[in-house]
Order: sequence, then C-alpha cells, then structure tokens
Amino acid sequence: MRKTIPVILDGDPGHDDAIAWVFAKADPTLEIRAVISVAGNQTIEKTTINARRIAALLGIDAPVARGASRPLNADPVTAGNWHGESGLDGPALPEPDRPLSELPGVELMAKVLRESRDPVTIIATGPLTNVADLLLSCPELKEKIGQISIMGGGITHGNWKPAAEYNIFEDPEAAWTVFHAGLPLRMCGLDVTEKALIKPSEFPRLLAVGNQVAEIVTGWLEFFYRFPMQLGYSGAPVHDPCAVLALTHPEIFQTRELYVDIELEGEYTRGATVADLMGSTGQAPNVVCGMDIDRDRYVELLVEALKSYDGRCVPVI
Ligand code: RIB
Ligand code: CA
Repeated sequence: MRKTIPVILDGDPGHDDAIAWVFAKADPTLEIRAVISVAGNQTIEKTTINARRIAALLGIDAPVARGASRPLNADPVTAGNWHGESGLDGPALPEPDRPLSELPGVELMAKVLRESRDPVTIIATGPLTNVADLLLSCPELKEKIGQISIMGGGITHGNWKPAAEYNIFEDPEAAWTVFHAGLPLRMCGLDVTEKALIKPSEFPRLLAVGNQVAEIVTGWLEFFYRFPMQLGYSGAPVHDPCAVLALTHPEIFQTRELYVDIELEGEYTRGATVADLMGSTGQAPNVVCGMDIDRDRYVELLVEALKSYDGRCVPVI
C-alpha cells in the first residue's frame, strides 16, 4: 500500500468538481484534511452548500470551509450555463451532516498545513483565489505544501474566451501567483480534460454499479452533458477529476514539463496559459502539463471508484 498523501480539496462545485471529489474520497492513498469552496461556477453561497452536501453524500470526514467570494482582482463571472442555477443542478442531495467550519477557507487551509507532519497536496479544481490568498498571506507555510494539482488552463485553446479557460480567466492574478510560487505544480488543462469525455452511451454502465453515489453521479452527468451536447461534444468533458487522477494514476496521462506563464493583459488574451513549447524563453519548466489521457481507463477508474461506495446510502432532500 502506497503511503497516504494528506490533501486539501479546493473547488467550485460544480458537477465535475463533485465527481473529482468522488474519486478523491474513493482513493485509499488520499487523506482528505479539508474541503474549501471558492466562488466560480456559482456564487460562494451556492458552491459552499454544494460542497457541504457532496461531503455528506460521500462521507468525507473533514471540515468544510467557505472560501473566497470573489477573485483577487476581477469581477466574478458564474457558469450557470454549464452547471445550472444551483451550481449542481440535477439529482436531490443530502442536507449537510455537520456545521460549516467557523474558519474562513484560507485560515482552515493554513491550520491544516501547520498541523500536518507531512507536506500537504492541494487539489484545486476552480479559480485559484484561495490558493493564491494562502500563498500571499502565509508565505511561511509554502514549505508545508507538497505540490499543487490543478484543473485549469489550456495550451492550445480556451473555453470561456478564445484563449482562456474558465478557472484561469476567472482569476488570472491568482493563477499568476500560483504559477510563480516555485512549488511543484501539475496542470490538467483543456488539452487533456476535453479528452476526458464520458459518453452518454457509457452512462448506463455507471448507473449499473447500482448504489446511491453511482445513481447521483449518473444524474450529474446527464445534466452536465446537456450544454456541451449543444456545442457538439460527443460526451461530457469531465474536466476536474483529472487533477485528482494526475496524482493517483499518473500512468493514464501523457505529460510534458513546460514553462507556463499567465497572461494578465490583452483584450483577447487575458487569462491565457502561455506555454513555452519550444524552449524559446530560456525559462526552466515550472509545470507538469497533461497532454493526453487513456480515456477508456478513465471511465474504468470511475466505475471502480463508484463501486467503493457500495453499502453507503444517506437520506436526500
Ligand atoms: O473550464 C472547466 C473548469 O471550469 C472546471 O473546473 C469546471 O468545474 C469549471 O469550474
Ligand atoms: Ca471546477
């Protein structure tokens, strides 16, 4: 058995954040120490109650704290077109099974880092506001961060703007801080996450796992696929779990070590993750970038993760 890794889950659930957390909770090598919400897909109020409900559904035995309500230096833009009015439209979910942490998100992150004997990995699947805030407000804790694994960016294209992916576009200043922190960083951008498709023909296979979490995940996918289907996608691009699997199953990815910087200016380029593919900047690589994925194995791993929830069933509202 591999040594367990203490992790902090930071995200804006969000259907794909929720499925990322399904993977994280199911993996015996990850020890979830805290769950932190961030404004993004929906307002902080909505992403926070969603985070608490997901934690109750999955049995995540860690504090959930409310994170940043707006980007460091940008106006918040929500993604209701993808995730619906609640941010997690679709199946009914349980009520939270414990109070929200009294600590603000960044303070809980700092507490977890201070109290951990081992370096903590941060898995960020939304705008990087909380992570940047932690780095800026507690620089002395950088040494307690083992690595950061994000879903965000895109080397060849964007999805919210032509050149910018949503998580980075939502808070480019935060992303710049994270990419310049000098910490081990894994980036699963659109280049790989848009290949992490789960096709509607595969939804029955997930449902057939036959437990409550499988039923709810299938319901999330059915809702989540509505919008990309209109855009012509052949399946739901389930972006965020890549940030988890990059740590637990790196073998399913093809990666490149690249120098990546964040564009903060430009009418058409703000929020772009600019990758030095030819080494022309002379800068040493700062990111391990996901470039491709074994999609079939990705779906198999989701089925395996769902099976780990056999025997768990909680009342839903
Ligand atoms: O661009 C995809 C990202 O934006 C995912 O994290 C999704 O949840 C949204 O936050
Ligand atoms: Ca997200």
